[in-house]
Amino acid sequence: MNKSIQKTLILTPADVQYIMQHIGPDHLMDDLISRLTKAFKSFDPTQTHIPIRSGFNYEEPAPGLIEWMPLYQKGDQIVIKVVGYHPDNPSQLGLPTIISTISSYDTTTGHLVGLADGVLLTALRTGAASAVASRCLAKPDSTQLGLIGCGAQAVTQLHALSRIFDLKKVLFYDEDKAAMDSFPARCAALNLAIDFLATDMSTVVGEADILCTATSIDVGEGPLFDDLDTQTHLHVNAVGSDFPGKVELPVSLLKQSFVCPDFIDQALKEGECQQLSREQISAGLLEVIQNEEKFQHVLNERTVFDSTGYALEDQIVMNLFMDYAKELGRGQEVSIEGLQEDAKNPYHFLGTAKKKELNHVHQLVLKDM
Ligand SMILES: NC(=O)c1ccc[n+]([C@@H]2O[C@H](COP(=O)([O-])OP(=O)(O)OC[C@H]3O[C@@H](n4cnc5c(N)ncnc54)[C@H](O)[C@@H]3O)[C@@H](O)[C@H]2O)c1
Repeated sequence: MNKSIQKTLILTPADVQYIMQHIGPDHLMDDLISRLTKAFKSFDPTQTHIPIRSGFNYEEPAPGLIEWMPLYQKGDQIVIKVVGYHPDNPSQLGLPTIISTISSYDTTTGHLVGLADGVLLTALRTGAASAVASRCLAKPDSTQLGLIGCGAQAVTQLHALSRIFDLKKVLFYDEDKAAMDSFPARCAALNLAIDFLATDMSTVVGEADILCTATSIDVGEGPLFDDLDTQTHLHVNAVGSDFPGKVELPVSLLKQSFVCPDFIDQALKEGECQQLSREQISAGLLEVIQNEEKFQHVLNERTVFDSTGYALEDQIVMNLFMDYAKELGRGQEVSIEGLQEDAKNPYHFLGTAKKKELNHVHQLVLKDM
């Protein structure tokens, strides 16, 4: 048997952190944005199949959900992210709201090729997706970024957008004062020459050229705001609406905007597009990115990227980290699956000696009866 097929490459948090430190956060984000742009541009639905994600949601022992997000690339690989959303995690347990793992399978054999910590990878790819969408939908000379929700995703939204736009100022708001106060410190490692301004919701919404909403607002509690003035060219990356009944934006803003979801069928079920009919959705990101000329006019209009989370983003970030890991010799190669020499003998490990021993035990049991 080919011995390499027995191994699974595992990337722990220490491995993904090492990779990011070694490659450099900006270089890594640029690579990710570039690979994701190429993947959207060349996406072929006859070759890559992405069903709407599915999962379980519950109220006990804590409100939350666990979902699986699969992708099948013909003749190559299957990537599945399993992701948990538990908004009480930070305050109750000091854990991230989003916890996930990403696995990659070989479609020739079914072998698990790779398994990676998905917490950082999810945050990175969600930021990169907003950057890819904003490049197609936002005014290219945008300088003011607004953030509502200053949690984990807000950090990578800022990072990714700072790689595409010449940002001068970030205005941010969170209903949790501690999250708002600690936001600049959590972005310090990025060394951004940007003014940070903690302010109220209406200033963030009113002054932003680009706005990212990344809150853990509850189902049925949205939208975050109503009838606030915005710039006529405002572009919004709506990141937090990713579950039935959970929305961040007022329908009035959606109706004034060019609305572009990552995945139309999923957005109608879980995104801001729940508030619209299919006919009111302008175009999906794949259509926009594959026909950029046709959509040039939207750069100066109100636009919304309805980001529900797309498995294509998970495949791209997973493969990027697997490539870096191989290049840098990081990660642990572990045999997880029982791939024995005798494919038809699942009991091969019991052997003949064990068999005698077991017979002996059996006889003792019989004698006692
Ligand atoms: N679209 C995607 O691909 C994608 C990927 C990852 C996470 N998400 C979603 O993004 C959201 C944020 O995730 P995170 O990891 O940053 O979570 P987080 O818990 O780290 O941060 C969320 C922040 O939102 C704040 N918040 C909640 N309600 C608010 C309100 N009404 N007004 C202002 N602030 C409010 C919280 O205080 C918290 O600081 C979640 O809803 C998550 O499901 C989407």
